[in-house]
Amino acid sequence: MLPPQPLLRTAVFALAVLQALAADTFIAAVYEHAVILPDAATAEPVSPHDALALMNKNMDVLEGAIKEAAQQGTHIIVTPEDGIYGWGFSRENTHPPPGTISPYLEDIPDPAVDWIPCTDPTRFGPAPAQERLSCMARNHSIYVVANIGDKKACNSSDPGCPSDGRYQYNTDVVFDPEGKLVARYHKYNLFISEAQFNHPKEPEAITFETPFGKFGIFTCFDILFHEPAVVLVSKLQVDTVLFPTAWMNVLPFLTAVEFHSAWAMGMGVNFLAADRHHTNLSMTGSGIYAPDGARTYYYNMKTEDGRLLIAELDSHPRLSPAFPPAVNWSSYALSVERFSLNDHEFRGLIFHDSFIFTELTKPEGNLTVCQKDLCCHLSYRMAGKQEDEVYVLGAFDGLHVVEGQYYLQICTLLKCRSTDLKTCGQPVETAQTKFEMFSLSGTFGTNYVFPEVLYSGVQLAPGEFEVLNDGRLISKTMTTKPVVTVTLFGRWYEKDHLKQDPDPPAFP
Ligand SMILES: *[C@@H]1O[C@H](CO)[C@@H](O)[C@H](O)[C@H]1NC(C)=O
Ligand SMILES: *[C@@H]1O[C@H](CO)[C@@H](O)[C@H](O)[C@H]1NC(C)=O
Ligand SMILES: *[C@@H]1O[C@H](CO)[C@@H](O)[C@H](O)[C@H]1NC(C)=O
Ligand SMILES: *[C@@H]1O[C@H](CO)[C@@H](O)[C@H](O)[C@H]1NC(C)=O
Ligand SMILES: *[C@@H]1O[C@H](CO)[C@@H](O)[C@H](O)[C@H]1NC(C)=O
Repeated sequence: MLPPQPLLRTAVFALAVLQALAADTFIAAVYEHAVILPDAATAEPVSPHDALALMNKNMDVLEGAIKEAAQQGTHIIVTPEDGIYGWGFSRENTHPPPGTISPYLEDIPDPAVDWIPCTDPTRFGPAPAQERLSCMARNHSIYVVANIGDKKACNSSDPGCPSDGRYQYNTDVVFDPEGKLVARYHKYNLFISEAQFNHPKEPEAITFETPFGKFGIFTCFDILFHEPAVVLVSKLQVDTVLFPTAWMNVLPFLTAVEFHSAWAMGMGVNFLAADRHHTNLSMTGSGIYAPDGARTYYYNMKTEDGRLLIAELDSHPRLSPAFPPAVNWSSYALSVERFSLNDHEFRGLIFHDSFIFTELTKPEGNLTVCQKDLCCHLSYRMAGKQEDEVYVLGAFDGLHVVEGQYYLQICTLLKCRSTDLKTCGQPVETAQTKFEMFSLSGTFGTNYVFPEVLYSGVQLAPGEFEVLNDGRLISKTMTTKPVVTVTLFGRWYEKDHLKQDPDPPAFP
């Protein structure tokens, strides 16, 4: 519940005065890193010595980026998930290369112990990776965010203790400019291929204060779920989210730069995303995102280069004049009748979910398409309809169950892969059609909706669109580039634990 308005205003004012004393803006950096992987040729389990040698090779590269960022006045830098030793590990020793993760793990203490590994490296046993990260932060006087593996011994007094006698966690760590460990986060929503790790028994909501705002942290797949991601922003009111990730791009809705920038806008928070770079796995896409759009981003499927990104952000985006208004996502859509009754609706799959589509047959028009409780309205005007391109309006209201279970409500305008309507929903990266205007809205049952606009060539459109407080996602100008998709991606967290419909509802 919110406090009464006058109280709230006084509190916001007091906060504003306090914050005037601190920094209004700060410089953020993210580093997309092409991780140097364990040598797949060795069949033997690696020794702790070899494990550290590999971690040092990666940390050599990260240190170069950290040094360069610090020279440019950066306050905080984020590096990717699995950025120090790679991935593909197993839990056991017997598994084929790269084998067990165990020689790469360190015991990472609770930050409450008040520890600077750089000046007291052996206080909690051997911790060479933490020591080096801490020294990088301290030597370059910058906050350093990294992802490493934590191990915690356990025994039969704990019924949940794994048979090898320890918990292993995919862990983010943050060192402050003195090298002190100030945050430790154990990833909660592990992806399907992370059998080497345990998830913590309870989700952890990790925050820390800086002179340039309150920070929260979570990892990769966590972004699709309520805990801890939404809790950090909605309840704990962080200003900026730190996001180490190893993101595999999936068009049309879940490509890194597209989805992460949309999450920042939908949640009204700064978002620092550092992805791994590995084009064979479709991993690329890092960025520095503010609530009103991307400040800078990197997407590169052509070469294997890492990239340092640096940009300035508001320390307290909620207090900024540019902060977008609160949105009622269904207000406009509920206030209008159906724009059209479509005899030409058809079904198509997007990432295993069965959408209802209708084609944009004319150069301009007003269309509505519905599935279950979600009706999506689109008004549009193309800047010239191409004969060899087909666009559709689509609606999906249902539980997604492949690679994770999560309930979605989605309204989307998207380009089909070919003029064959059966290809609608398949990944497509390029387009030729610009839009003079678009306005997309839906009768959402959730408050968590992420607005996505993706142009041809996986390019973002900062400053060219906005969300009105009645929930319409509209173009501000004619699109400067051809459109691949305009989407309202809604997450209805309360429905994640429902059973899947036995059958999709009868057509349509
Ligand atoms: C930090 O600086 C000290 C002394 O200037 C140097 O010995 C050490 O190698 C540096 N460490 C890192 C990680 O840069
Ligand atoms: C088992 O673990 C608990 C908590 O970590 C510890 O206090 C206890 O001494 C351990 N018992 C044995 C037999 O190692
Ligand atoms: C990507 O895959 C190709 C073909 O499988 C292989 O030759 C190449 O070495 C791989 N690149 C990387 C960076 O792993
Ligand atoms: C959003 O707008 C709709 C339609 O005007 C209204 O029924 C609903 O109560 C509003 N929701 C919120 C959370 O204010
Ligand atoms: C779409 O709706 C708008 C607003 O109601 C109207 O001005 C416009 O003429 C309509 N366009 C078409 C092609 O029907």
